[in-house]
Amino acid sequence: MELKVAKGSLTDVEADCAVVGVYQGMLEAPLPGAAGQVDEALDGQISALIEDGEIRGKPGEITIIHTQGRIPPRRVMVVGGGPVDKADANLLRRLAADVVRRARSNGYKHMTAFRPAAHYLNAVDAAQASAEGALLGSYRITANADEQDDDNGRELESVTFLTEDDADLPELDRGLDRGAIIAEAVALARDLANEPANRMTPTILAQRAQDAADVAGVTFTNLSIGEITEMGMGGLLGVTAGSHEPPAFIILEHKGDPDNTRPTVALIGKGVTFDSGGISIKPSANMSAMKGDMAGGAAVIGALQAIGRLGLPINVTGLVPATENLPGGGATKPGDVLTAMNGKTMEVENTDAEGRLILADALSYANNKGMTPLIDVATLTGAIRVALGNVAMGLFANDDDVARRLQDASEATGEKMWRMPLWDDYKEQIKSSVATVKNTGGQPAGSITAAKFLQEFAEDTPWAHLDIASVSATDRERGWQTRGATGQPVRTLVRLVEDMLHES
Ligand code: BES
Ligand code: ZN
Ligand code: MN
Repeated sequence: MELKVAKGSLTDVEADCAVVGVYQGMLEAPLPGAAGQVDEALDGQISALIEDGEIRGKPGEITIIHTQGRIPPRRVMVVGGGPVDKADANLLRRLAADVVRRARSNGYKHMTAFRPAAHYLNAVDAAQASAEGALLGSYRITANADEQDDDNGRELESVTFLTEDDADLPELDRGLDRGAIIAEAVALARDLANEPANRMTPTILAQRAQDAADVAGVTFTNLSIGEITEMGMGGLLGVTAGSHEPPAFIILEHKGDPDNTRPTVALIGKGVTFDSGGISIKPSANMSAMKGDMAGGAAVIGALQAIGRLGLPINVTGLVPATENLPGGGATKPGDVLTAMNGKTMEVENTDAEGRLILADALSYANNKGMTPLIDVATLTGAIRVALGNVAMGLFANDDDVARRLQDASEATGEKMWRMPLWDDYKEQIKSSVATVKNTGGQPAGSITAAKFLQEFAEDTPWAHLDIASVSATDRERGWQTRGATGQPVRTLVRLVEDMLHES
């Protein structure tokens, strides 16, 4: 889909469909802005539908009017935006997604929209949010494009944002470019996580990370198993022991600040390309979903691609320990003790609690290199879904400032998160008699004890952990989310790094 900006008005430019928004609290005639202009050209047809109560301005409400030659666009799509005082970038993203999905299923090829909602957002942010919504809402799993198609191969080819003001053009253009860079990064994360595990091994994940690095001008390194062994990454080695696929330790370095005016931010993603549970094997039902157990790693790769392409003047390193977790003759067994890169030991009570074992090494590595803050993203526990449903990811942090920054970024992107406690009381549950820590803490507070385990390896460095097992995949289309992997929290990670630039 092509997103463009052009000078003109909705009532002059040809299209299969022109889009206008109406808001609750702004339904009195004459309607403001583009809706008013179109209403007038259609002899008050929109206001008549409002009068009849057929258009109420509810969020996501869509009404299609055929223009019968009265204006060049063949149809007008009137989209409800809800209460006008609640309108923001998150709303615009959702509406853009709803609009393009409807347009595609109706078979429209070319759409026009007016300079997005100037009264509540500046031109750059409005264009960016529209682009993100349009591109993410129309995302389809590439490999299955023709199979899963409800739309008979229909494609929306272009959306053109019109403005009558020359001065707006460059800003809208910039917003669309930024939105496209970010949406493509989310799409990459979705693609990686949607791929079946036999086609997304640690080696293939590393290749795809290298492709992303090339696109973004980011440095790519993959540590060999020899280097992983040499460095003493006993967690990663322990998890990978049951698999015939070699592990990977992917390093993506964005060097946007060559003078190192700020320390390097570490983004760390769990890259388990398939999680069978290992010797503590999972039940068969839904085990296939565990092909997505590298969604955290995928999000980090996506974020680094966007950060590189945006050329943000800050140093950010992405770290993705990648492995399969399988049972086998050489597999790690319950009761085994592993030594992480920082020398701390880990008793493997349950081989299915593998994510924390590989993240222990990645956190140690980042600490070793002096990176700060450390942000890890992982499909870590089923328990986070019990706590938060499919609505929000869990946020854990040893530092209020890092937590606050993530919460601010999350509010801006609409990728919801909720902060969970990390009281030391929970540490008792992961006490081991034979090692520094044990990798499970029993049933109660499973997400928190997992985070307490990670905290041991973050040590005193400002650190936050996002448990995304609740939101990494979805089975329904909703706003910018599409079926399959969601690509969360790519946008929040990018936003977090951007926001850091505006502070000392
Ligand atoms: N990858 C899983 C967590 C998961 C569950 C992700 C559901 C996505 C959806 C993780 O490795 C795991 O197996 N966690 C165990 C931990 C337990 C053994 C302490 C869990 O949640 O049951
Ligand atoms: Zn896992
Ligand atoms: Mn597991």
